[in-house]
Amino acid sequence: MKDGYLTVALTKGRLADKTLDLFSRIGISMDEMKDRDSRKLIFTNEDLKLRFFLAKGPDVPTYVEYGAADIGVAGADIIMEEKRRVYEVLDLGFGKCRMCVAGPKEAGELLKHHEMIRVASKYPNIAREYFYEKKNQTVDIIKLNGSVELGPIVGLSDVIVDIVETGSTLKENGLEVLETVCPLSARMIVNQVSMQMETERIRRLIGELRDCRNTD
Ligand code: PRP
Repeated sequence: MKDGYLTVALTKGRLADKTLDLFSRIGISMDEMKDRDSRKLIFTNEDLKLRFFLAKGPDVPTYVEYGAADIGVAGADIIMEEKRRVYEVLDLGFGKCRMCVAGPKEAGELLKHHEMIRVASKYPNIAREYFYEKKNQTVDIIKLNGSVELGPIVGLSDVIVDIVETGSTLKENGLEVLETVCPLSARMIVNQVSMQMETERIRRLIGELRDCRNTD
C-alpha cells in the first residue's frame, strides 16, 4: 500500500482477461488493460485508488510476498510451485484445469510398481511433493520450461507432471493422463502485511469478488 493505492498484480494472458472481466462485474473497469497491442505494464484507476500491473505468472507471488503488490491473481499451480509467504484468500472459479502425471500408456506400469523413473516438469516442487511425499516414490525430476510433452516423446523422461485442460495437447502427442495430482484454478493472494493494514478494504473486495465469481 503506497499513497492510499491498492496495487494488484495480474498474470499476463488468458488469466488477466478473465480477472478483468470479474473485476468489471464488481464495477472496477480497466478497459485500457485489454488493449493487446499496448506494451504498457501498469494502469491506475484514480477514482478507486487502485493500480493494476501485468506480470509473468511465477513473478506474481514474488511481487505479493515483497509487498510490491498488495494483491495478486495467479494459477494455483504457480502458487504451489513458488511457495511464497502470502495468504491465499479466494478461489476465483475460472482457469480450471488439473495437474496430472501423464505419459505413454505403458508408463502406467512404471508408476504402479514404484519404479525409479524420470519425470520432466515445469513444476519440480509440485512433482517432488507428489512423488516423494504423497506416493513415497523416489524419482529423478528434470526441470523444463515449456512444451513438456516432448519429454517422453524424445526419450528425456518416462512421464511428465503438467497442466491438463482440454487434454488435446496430450492426445495429439500420443500421451494420456496416468494420475491426477490436484485440481487447479485461478486464486487471489494477498500480502500478509497489507492484509493487516488494509483489512477492511481488502475484505470488502474479497467479498464482492466472491459474490460475483462463477463457481460452476
Ligand atoms: C499448457 C500445458 C499443456 C497445455 C494443456 O501449456 O503445459 O501443454 O497447456 O492444455 P490442453 O489440455 O487444453 O491441451 P501452455 O499453453 O501454457 O504452454 P507451455 O507448453 O509453454 O507450457
